[in-house]
Amino acid sequence: MTKAGIATDAADISLRGVSRFFELGGEKIHAIRDLTLDIRQGEFVAIKGPSGSGKSTLANVIGGLDTPNEGQVVVGGLDFSKANDKELSHYRSQTIGFVFQSFNLQAHTTVLENVLLPLVIAGVDRATRLARATECVELMGLADRADQPTNKLSGGQRQRVSIARALANWPQIIIADEPTGNLDQANGQIVIDYLTKLNRELKITLILITHDAGVANKAPRILEIVDGTLTDRKRA
Ligand SMILES: Nc1ncnc2c1ncn2[C@@H]1O[C@H](COP(=O)(O)OP(=O)(O)O)[C@@H](O)[C@H]1O
Ligand SMILES: [Mg+2]
Repeated sequence: MTKAGIATDAADISLRGVSRFFELGGEKIHAIRDLTLDIRQGEFVAIKGPSGSGKSTLANVIGGLDTPNEGQVVVGGLDFSKANDKELSHYRSQTIGFVFQSFNLQAHTTVLENVLLPLVIAGVDRATRLARATECVELMGLADRADQPTNKLSGGQRQRVSIARALANWPQIIIADEPTGNLDQANGQIVIDYLTKLNRELKITLILITHDAGVANKAPRILEIVDGTLTDRKRA
């Protein structure tokens, strides 16, 4: 991938006093509570915590998929509370790439077509999108699988397809929510290696969500979330 494809303005992430709660039976259940957090463009941060601690809610709030009840989220100068629908949808499709535990691929469609899809949606012209999708597939070590339907691939290969798809629009930030949750140890390691390579070589901000301490420990900075509240640990 050519670095020129990645916008140069820094997509620094800033959260100030962010809460997301749900009202159930007249009771307020906080998924995340009063979070204040800064992540600089190019950082590799792990978010670690047990099931139900608020990790996915935090990921969705940063990704603009969920709106907090309180507090401010600003990414690359875009204040979500002041942004219009067009700006937010551009942010979600161009600035952020999402990787999910369950891959969320089109099963009967080829690897290349899965990676082309976000480029088609973004209205990228045919020649450019083919070149870009091919490059992303190659970056994930899947060149020889490009024409195979994804349901013929192993779990580890499928997750690499979903990373290639997340990469297709050249995002500045990749959020991976439990990307190794459905993989065995060896394939999980391979997927983490590919993700960290994108951070190291392309300076894409990597937010890696996991309940696995072994996976989190790959990151130079670990945010630990318990009952919706954060502690921030930078490693020496
Ligand atoms: N749409 C929702 N409605 C009600 N409660 C929710 C909703 N989304 C999340 N929660 C609650 O918020 C808490 C955090 O959820 P989540 O962010 O998915 O945690 P994690 O990803 O760490 O497992 C959980 O108690 C969950 O039940
Ligand atoms: Mg989750």
